[in-house]
Parts: sequence; structure tokens; C-alpha cells
Amino acid sequence: MAKKPVALSRKARDGLLAAARAVRARAYAPYSRFPVGAALLGASGRMYVGCNVENASFGATLCAERAAVASAIAAGEQRVSAIAVVGGEKDPVPPCGICLQTLAEFGSGDLRVVLAAPDAPGVTVTTLGEVMPLRFGRSHLT
Ligand code: THU
Repeated sequence: MAKKPVALSRKARDGLLAAARAVRARAYAPYSRFPVGAALLGASGRMYVGCNVENASFGATLCAERAAVASAIAAGEQRVSAIAVVGGEKDPVPPCGICLQTLAEFGSGDLRVVLAAPDAPGVTVTTLGEVMPLRFGRSHLT
């Protein structure tokens, strides 16, 4: 039987979404005009936020999810248990492939992924394992 993922309370989920929505307003996205906000929960239970930070050299752009992960790691976290992403307009924005790979470094397949669009009701709740079933990780290197 598949292992049941650890539950993310409604309160925790709404707190992550509110923080992601708030930090989205600080995104630096003058090129795409596509602001994204992310908020994650570290293993300690503390929350960390990030927004996308674009660059005139487009490839130097940092996504919101990786900005949040960098903030969590810099604060001493080692594991991520949930992340909320708010972006797009009517359709929720799933993390890009590079961000999924970054999340896989610090979270299991149970890592909760919560998605919402700023101008539309409804929330999508999924897991990293569902979005990225085959994940390359450090176990492959040994
Ligand atoms: N972006 C994110 O911040 N997260 C994602 O998962 C998807 C894309 C940003 C990068 C860029 O600044 C803008 O959205 C358009 O791609």
C-alpha cells in the first residue's frame, strides 16, 4: 500500500498561500511581467518566502521557488515539507523543471505542493512525487 503523505493543515496551507501572495508583490519581473511568489515550510515549522528575480541577461533569472529554498537553507533548514506557489493570472503555475529538481534535493515525494492563481478561486494541492515521479538524486551518485 502506498505510504500516506503527512497532512498539511488547512491553517498551514492558508498561511503559506497568504505569504506567497504577499511576496509576489515584490517580484522583480520587468521583462516577463510575470510575478511569482513562493512560500515554503522548513522542517522546523518555520516559513520562508521568495519571489522571482529577473535579469537583463535572461538566463540569470531566479525563480520564486529557488529563492525561497535559498532563504530556508541560509537560515539553517535542511528539509522542506511544503511549498505554495502563487503566479499566473487565472491558471495556477506549477514549479518549473529546475525548481522541481531543487525541491527534490531537500524534500521527499511527500513534499506538499500547493498552487493558486492570484485572480481565480480554488487551490490545487499535490505532491512533489506526483508532479515529478522519477527524481534524480544523490542516491544515484553512490
Ligand atoms: N517563474 C518562477 O518564478 N517560477 C516558476 O516555477 C515558473 C517561472 C518565473 C521565472 C520568470 O521570471 C517568469 O516566471 C517567467 O518565466
